[in-house]
Amino acid sequence: MTEHLIAAGELASGGPLTEAFRRVDRGAFVPAFALATHTDQGVRYRLVDGGDPEQREEWASHVYADETLIIEVEGEPVAQALAGGSGSGRWTSSSTMPGLMARHLRELGLEENPSVLEIGVGSGYNIAILCEVLGDERVAGVDISPKLVFDASRDLASQGYFPKVCAYDGHQGYPDRAPYDRIISTTAFTHVPPAWIDQVVPGGMILVNIAGGTGGAVLRLEVDHGVAEGRFLRQWAGFLPARSHRPSARVSVDDPGEWRWTGLDPMRISENPVEAFMAQLATTDANTVMTQADDGTSLLFLEGADGAWAEVETTPVDGRYRVDQGGPRRLWDLVERTHRWWESKGRPDWSSFGVTVGAKGQEVWFESPDAAERWELPVPDPVRCPEGS
Ligand SMILES: C[S@@+](CC[C@H](N)C(=O)[O-])C[C@H]1O[C@@H](n2cnc3c(N)ncnc32)[C@H](O)[C@@H]1O
Repeated sequence: MTEHLIAAGELASGGPLTEAFRRVDRGAFVPAFALATHTDQGVRYRLVDGGDPEQREEWASHVYADETLIIEVEGEPVAQALAGGSGSGRWTSSSTMPGLMARHLRELGLEENPSVLEIGVGSGYNIAILCEVLGDERVAGVDISPKLVFDASRDLASQGYFPKVCAYDGHQGYPDRAPYDRIISTTAFTHVPPAWIDQVVPGGMILVNIAGGTGGAVLRLEVDHGVAEGRFLRQWAGFLPARSHRPSARVSVDDPGEWRWTGLDPMRISENPVEAFMAQLATTDANTVMTQADDGTSLLFLEGADGAWAEVETTPVDGRYRVDQGGPRRLWDLVERTHRWWESKGRPDWSSFGVTVGAKGQEVWFESPDAAERWELPVPDPVRCPEGS
């Protein structure tokens, strides 16, 4: 697998990071995983267990490949969630594609021997690589799933790694071991959790996928005395959204709405990550999904936390698409306006955008931190962790 990552340009041909990928056995951290199949009834999983002699070859062909592997379903490690060999539900953790891991680890400047906090320990494989390069003392990690933390700690110890790993909500960072030279998150956040800023030394770095229910990209920030600033990386990546102990505060409104035509093809938001990124800036908290009306018409459906909604038909009539929208905001109007602006700027990708995080809030800007074009990155009210989390 390491040779494949070198050939793909994800790893250098030599050096401590490449050596760490050679030494750390992914199989020790992913003893079993789930393969997903999408059916008319939803997603179905099949357990592939490396401990089963009949499945060993199949298991190895995935574990030592550049693939994301599902390790937790509905908050249960796959071995328990799919004890009968198969099942369904929402997957809640995965071992990230090794190529993507390598790309982000290279961004961290590990040659400077930084102390690192990983948010989203998952299988423990990424943190094992960090331990191999930096030594256990310089590495800490948290995951919101106590069961994953238990399994990862066991597997890390079995391979001789003893970093500080804890079940904790990454929204709070991990104050016990702060400050850190780097925070890397392998789960996506809608904003930069403010607690992280105080837990990173001046000159330190935060690497995090900023994404909401519509789009996102990976952001690299430099921290300097209470302010963090930086740009989105050119290469796109998307991680699982961070889970939260906070109950979700979404409302629905009873509003029949109004309809009009739009010239913007909704499939562009669904299929092009740059256009999804722009729609995300415009709609902040909206979730965007492809769905079907009762009559079978395919729709792009957007729904805000405040109950604002928009439905856009994907089949054009004379080159235009029907849009129905209602609630306190006209979500599709916001998407269209930002989209027109984006086209007028020559369709820049996310690497032309950056973020400033300061005492007054968080804003995305275009091209320069003092640009006139800015979008708010809303920060929810502080979350209190339940006792013992
Ligand atoms: C893509 S997986 C991480 C993969 C992991 N780095 C590895 O090497 O296997 C994302 C992880 O983030 C965790 N997570 C989700 N929300 C979190 C939160 N609020 N705080 C900490 N961890 C969280 C999930 O439980 C999941 O294990």
